[in-house]
Amino acid sequence: MANMKTMAPVITIDGPSGSGKGTISRQVARNLGFHLLDSGALYRLMGLYILQLAHDPQQPTDDELEQLARDMPVEFRAGKAGDVDILLDNQVVNDRLRTEQIGEMASRLAAMPAVRRGLLQRQRDFCRLPGLVADGRDMGTVVFPDAILKIYLDASQEARAERRRKQLIEKGENVSIAILLQDLRRRDQRDRNRKHAPLMPADDAVNIDSTELDIDQVVTIVMDIATERLSMRA
Ligand code: DC
Repeated sequence: MANMKTMAPVITIDGPSGSGKGTISRQVARNLGFHLLDSGALYRLMGLYILQLAHDPQQPTDDELEQLARDMPVEFRAGKAGDVDILLDNQVVNDRLRTEQIGEMASRLAAMPAVRRGLLQRQRDFCRLPGLVADGRDMGTVVFPDAILKIYLDASQEARAERRRKQLIEKGENVSIAILLQDLRRRDQRDRNRKHAPLMPADDAVNIDSTELDIDQVVTIVMDIATERLSMRA
């Protein structure tokens, strides 16, 4: 059996869209010098990959879907200024992954057990020394059940929709809050109520509501608990 102290420690941060888990995870990983897994990007990549393969008129079977998820030619490469370039078939696709169309496809694919099975080991392969911060929906419940710290980050739907609106405004897009709320509710509903690996806090998760907190405040809370848990392993 592997010695616990030689295994890379994992911190999981799960939560719904717009809870801020991506930004928080990046900062916590940077502070600790840990690797980072943005598992949502893998589901989005799968959406883009399927779109690119659309010349195939046949609907893939479950076995084929699982194999596609296992084999899709993906690379995460350290880019400029500490960012990560995400490559599909040797093309940088970061911007293409963030569209509403791909988000919607990712959410549909994420409800399919064959896709989740195909991506499981790929996600676990990110766990390397000195440690990993993994963000998603089922990081603490399914993918890394032995994580040393599991965070469940949430915020009200209104706050999450408002954050999304601000991000879009920065990109020069103006979408009404009503449309964003509608979109968020639909995605929440699918992510929370699907049969396989639904979005929910792990039994041993620390719950944080970020509705009234800014990014720095949440990072401080997570860093305090992470430092304590890491010192307990030392
Ligand atoms: O976090 P995100 O918006 O990039 O995730 C895209 C979709 O993938 C989202 O609808 C939920 C799904 N997802 C999932 O089911 N499990 C994960 N671990 C990460 C994302």
